[in-house]
Amino acid sequence: MTQIGLLILVVLGAIKAYLILTTGVCTSTKKLTGKTVIITGANTGIGKETALDLAKRGARVILACRDPKKAAIAKEDIIRESRNKNVFIRQLDLTSLKSVRKFAADILKSELRLDILINNAGCATIEKKLTEDGLEVQMQSNHFGHFLLTNLLLGNVRIINVSSTAHRWIKKLNLDDLTFERDPSDNKILNIYGITKLCNVLFSKELAKKLEPFGVTVNCLHPGAVKTEIFRNAPTWFQIIAAVCIPLFFKSAKEGAQTSIHLAVADEVANVTGEYFSDCKIAKTSKLAKDLELAKQLWEVSETFVKLKPEERHF
Ligand SMILES: NC(=O)c1ccc[n+]([C@@H]2O[C@H](COP(=O)([O-])OP(=O)(O)OC[C@H]3O[C@@H](n4cnc5c(N)ncnc54)[C@H](OP(=O)(O)O)[C@@H]3O)[C@@H](O)[C@H]2O)c1
Repeated sequence: MTQIGLLILVVLGAIKAYLILTTGVCTSTKKLTGKTVIITGANTGIGKETALDLAKRGARVILACRDPKKAAIAKEDIIRESRNKNVFIRQLDLTSLKSVRKFAADILKSELRLDILINNAGCATIEKKLTEDGLEVQMQSNHFGHFLLTNLLLGNVRIINVSSTAHRWIKKLNLDDLTFERDPSDNKILNIYGITKLCNVLFSKELAKKLEPFGVTVNCLHPGAVKTEIFRNAPTWFQIIAAVCIPLFFKSAKEGAQTSIHLAVADEVANVTGEYFSDCKIAKTSKLAKDLELAKQLWEVSETFVKLKPEERHF
């Protein structure tokens, strides 16, 4: 082997060792018997691993999924592995505000209590499309759908929003154009993904402020770079790079679920709210994500975009 080859191997090994040593692990052994948890996008990836862990802890777990067939397979796997039969499917397509409303109405009718809501579902599409509600598809899946859902289900004690370090890509948020029709620079699809993840952080901050007097905590997180289906629609060049990098540097879905699980169960975060976590620890956000006035304004425009009715406005 040449010296350069050896050097590359040493550098790759050092990066891998660093990643293994810094990967956060939820160490709480807390049981969730008697608690009800809703996890969006729980049929695969980080959401499925989170659901499995919480089912093992004895929770009543509701898998909020858009595809009933995929959800049925996930439910079977989770029940088999956790030996907890209290796992249920409720259909939820975040790209339809009607579906979000129906989901919330069904939950409020069928559930006696709600303890933990994990807004995990997300997509990174390559095509800019509008949904049946006239909203951009990534914005509705990743932000507006969860915004409406959370407002309709405010009985939870812990609310967890799965964001991403991708929020850092965004240096300016134009609240006048959240359907990205006016500013062509915002049409870059990865840029839109970053905007949706910035919205997750800003939404968490504003909701945490609003819910603090009620003892409800709201936190968000970056799960790490995780080997899941999130890149399923990415361009070919990206898939090629990913094929090399993912096995080397990405976390497994189980590792990627640790921060969501930590926020859902750990006693040490029971009174922590409005924070952004990574590897089970509080982490820094971008400067823009700290802008509380922007968070307030985003809340107001989101209310209008999802057509929140006066009787659904709690604040
Ligand atoms: N993987 C990473 O490296 C990474 C990094 C940072 C942040 N994240 C975030 O982690 C979260 C989970 O992603 P993942 O990596 O586990 O990806 P994934 O394997 O692609 O899982 C995404 C889940 O979201 C669901 N979903 C997508 N759009 C939906 C919609 N409109 N309505 C209902 N469900 C919908 C998917 O359902 P279908 O299977 O039916 O499509 C799937 O269950 C996302 O919020 C993502 O942004 C991931």
